[in-house]
Amino acid sequence: MEAKYLMNTLFLLLTLITNDVVGGLHITKVGVSTPLAVGESGWLECEWADDGDSIYALKWYLGLDEFYRWTPAEDPPVKTFKIRGEPLRVDASASHKGRVRIQAVTLAAAGVFRCEVSAEAPSFHTESHVAYMTVVDLPDEKPRISVPQDTYQLEEDVFLNCSSPRSQPPAELTFYVNGEQADPSWLVPQNAIAEDPAPSSHHHHHHHPPGLQTAVLGLRFTLWPRLLRRGSVVVKCTASILNLYWDSSEVAIRVDQPYHASIMEGRASSAASSSAAAGGAVTSLSQSLFVLISTCWLLH
Ligand SMILES: *[C@@H]1O[C@H](CO)[C@@H](O)[C@H](O)[C@H]1NC(C)=O
Repeated sequence: MEAKYLMNTLFLLLTLITNDVVGGLHITKVGVSTPLAVGESGWLECEWADDGDSIYALKWYLGLDEFYRWTPAEDPPVKTFKIRGEPLRVDASASHKGRVRIQAVTLAAAGVFRCEVSAEAPSFHTESHVAYMTVVDLPDEKPRISVPQDTYQLEEDVFLNCSSPRSQPPAELTFYVNGEQADPSWLVPQNAIAEDPAPSSHHHHHHHPPGLQTAVLGLRFTLWPRLLRRGSVVVKCTASILNLYWDSSEVAIRVDQPYHASIMEGRASSAASSSAAAGGAVTSLSQSLFVLISTCWLLH
């Protein structure tokens, strides 16, 4: 009895060593489509080399939950399993071996995908590799710029916010003033606003999908005359998330200008200032002529 047990142990040890030396069944590639937007479809890919070992089963897990199994000796070879909260659906008819078509992903599908292959007897060798999927919930609307006042006075401070509503992760926001990226010292960082907590139905689930967030960025600057273009300043805000989303909004901030301000604005362009200088020269020439004529008349 004891001798037999020892023999078994030795046999197992020998098999493990053999596997290590020969290599046996092993995974050569694991990959997933990433990033995906909520509702999109994608692919999971797992490839292996058998090196003389026959594959018994290939399984895909999300976290700890198995949702796909391919067993070549069984009919049908593809089986799928529902995961609580349904973070994804598997299109079994489009899936084969380690290549799996997934559809209608939710935020709960973000995380660790694991492919596991196991060999038939006698080795039963099992190996797994992981790939990470990012799932993005895109903003509900384009970025919104809130301008508190209808009009501003020259040299007044402007403080406005740009917000990109309800996404995960929060969008990255960028301000442009008159077409150029805003001076970093004008930015007023704001915390993203948490929109809704993760639904309680996911309570005992392995994946806790993060809630949606509204990204907010403030911009504060002074309305110096050099910023004005035909009496207003154009502010643009862009929102982006990875390579999946980009959108922008633009507002013109109108400035009530007294007369001298429009002259200041005009001086910003060199054409305007050189014509003003020419006008000044003409005036002083006519003044000298007047003095000269008056002097002649007095001497006469
Ligand atoms: C900008 O957003 C912050 C934080 O949400 C808020 O406290 C502030 O009042 C907002 N300012 C404007 C001008 O909307």
